[in-house]
Amino acid sequence: MNALLAPFFEETRQAVEAILQRYLTNPDVPSPLSDAMAASVKKGGKRLRPMLTQACANLFGVSLDQAARVGAAIELVHCYSLIHDDLPAMDNADMRRGYPTCWREFGEATAILAGDALLPLAFEILVDEATHPSPTVRLSLIQALAASSGATGMAGGQILDISPHLIESLEAAITMQNLKTGCLIAFSCEAGAILAEATEEDRQKLRQFGFLLGLAYQIQDDLLDIEGNAASLGKPVGIDTGKRSLVALLGIEESKRYLRTLQDDIFRLVAPYKQPLFDDIITWVTTRET
Ligand code: IPE
Ligand code: IPE
Ligand code: MG
Ligand code: MG
Ligand code: MG
Repeated sequence: MNALLAPFFEETRQAVEAILQRYLTNPDVPSPLSDAMAASVKKGGKRLRPMLTQACANLFGVSLDQAARVGAAIELVHCYSLIHDDLPAMDNADMRRGYPTCWREFGEATAILAGDALLPLAFEILVDEATHPSPTVRLSLIQALAASSGATGMAGGQILDISPHLIESLEAAITMQNLKTGCLIAFSCEAGAILAEATEEDRQKLRQFGFLLGLAYQIQDDLLDIEGNAASLGKPVGIDTGKRSLVALLGIEESKRYLRTLQDDIFRLVAPYKQPLFDDIITWVTTRET
């Protein structure tokens, strides 16, 4: 990560984690559940999605705190998706972010409930007027996050991910990846435009940016699942063997070529914004090792 992007990531991380800390400290929540929720959110994570919200919101001069609140909400949905993704019935993973997965540490039932509890907490953050003074903006955020995380978004993609018989073409693999990973990343970018009450054109363009970035992110994740190192990734490798991802269908070399073409397309799409951070983000997403 280069000298411009690293401090930007760090600034976002601090702002988002301060908000998460407040929402995850609730004495009314029974301790096995609050411990499992806190452990799954606080222990690491690159915080890519909140950083994207911040970078896109910056285009329009949105306040750091508003963007960080939306980023915190997205991170809660993301962490819930990872807890459930790691369950024995899904990817059956033992490690996440360098620690035992939620179900490994707290048991399956508590892990399921921790995921169940993190999802609505995201909407509690969005509904609060500290997120944006306009109820219309808050409703737009809520509607878009709901659509991105539910059956028409992440959850819909996850069912396709575990249903290889439904992935019979490259297009179907891309759809699966757009749903399971792209939708939430697209919302992370679009949210900057929603917060700013920017034009529909900006909203759609940033959404498209997020989808392409999300596709690239998942391709790189699937390449790292084959070629990466579990210790530096903080999660097991080789776990998605047998899934019908784009990498599984195209093979390693062809997928790397696909990724380079995708990278060029993304550069071209966002060039008119003249946001230097975008170039660094695109480069990092398509070449990251962790
Ligand atoms: C992991 O997401 C799941 C994918 C969509 C590939 P991240 O790579 O963003 O995970 P953390 O939040 O940094 O742990
Ligand atoms: C996860 O994809 C996508 C989610 C929506 C959680 P993976 O299953 O490849 O993510 P990792 O590799 O476990 O982080
Ligand atoms: Mg998975
Ligand atoms: Mg997984
Ligand atoms: Mg993976």
